[in-house]
Amino acid sequence: MDRQLDISSVLQGGYATPLTRELQAERHLTKSMLMYPIFITDEPDAETVIQSLPGQKRWGINKLKGFLEPLVKKGLRSVILFGVPLLAKKDYCGTLADDPEGPVIQAIKLIRKEFPDLVVACDVCLCEYTDHGHCGLLNEDGTIFMAPSVKRIAEVALNYAKAGAHMVAPSDMMDGRIKAIKEALIAHGYGNRVNLMAYSAKFATSLYGPFREAAGSAPSFGNRKCYQLPPNARGLAKRALLRDANEGADILMVKPGLPYLDIISEARTICPNHPLAVYQVSGEYAMIVAGANAGVYDLKTMAFESMECFLRAGCTLVLTYFTPDFLDWLS
Ligand code: PBG
Ligand code: ZN
Repeated sequence: MDRQLDISSVLQGGYATPLTRELQAERHLTKSMLMYPIFITDEPDAETVIQSLPGQKRWGINKLKGFLEPLVKKGLRSVILFGVPLLAKKDYCGTLADDPEGPVIQAIKLIRKEFPDLVVACDVCLCEYTDHGHCGLLNEDGTIFMAPSVKRIAEVALNYAKAGAHMVAPSDMMDGRIKAIKEALIAHGYGNRVNLMAYSAKFATSLYGPFREAAGSAPSFGNRKCYQLPPNARGLAKRALLRDANEGADILMVKPGLPYLDIISEARTICPNHPLAVYQVSGEYAMIVAGANAGVYDLKTMAFESMECFLRAGCTLVLTYFTPDFLDWLS
């Protein structure tokens, strides 16, 4: 006769049915956890396919209502806006970022008016708007000119708040920008109204490629390794998370997602009192779609698995290009 298993070794009885498998999770994916990144260009009638980001488009302001309406009906709760100036001329300090006539400010106002219950977040960065494509202002030698970068980022965030954004999300990775933005928001009466989501543990990854094509934001020289975190850096990531929490962030983010699950788990442990976001970035999304197209797995099953992993690691909010799909799948 087979040697008897210890009672504590018998696990399979605990997850034999769909329901008892579902009960193993600490949190479950809901539509409220999904934030949809959208690209808004200064060509008012644009509806341009983005080759590198399957299924995603660059939208002109005139197309935005028609695009969002069905998604809101299906339960979309939040969007994060990225401006893509294609016609206007970029400069050294990213004047276009908060141009009152520019795509982001116009989109905030339109969405607030047309979809009063949709939460509007804005990515705050300069790389889409500077002629050099870096996320801050530069010294003559091409290094980051720190103090004016932080000042400019805070100014842009404040102008998005003034236009009606519910949330500002700086992705620039300049030291001290969370405190500067929080102070600006408080000083101008937005301290109790605008949420500050910090891209805190944002790594210098190869996975932003499709986004940079979509947003036209690749640096014209060099790379972002002196402000985005080295992929090997657990300690730095923890310090950045704790710093941003202390500087007044309302939500913390880890980015990218799947290759950085250990960082998400660390963040959940060291900052247990903040909502925790993950950005499933453009390259991850493109990889998952490409794998499905190559027959490696079923797209929906794999997309769900990626969400289950994010939630298991500790996330409470997911920025993902799969949002429209999940709104269908979760219905
Ligand atoms: C801008 C920004 C980037 C992303 C979000 N905000 C690109 C970058 O830092 O180079 C990447 C998002 C994605 O890849 O989906 N700083
Ligand atoms: Zn940037």
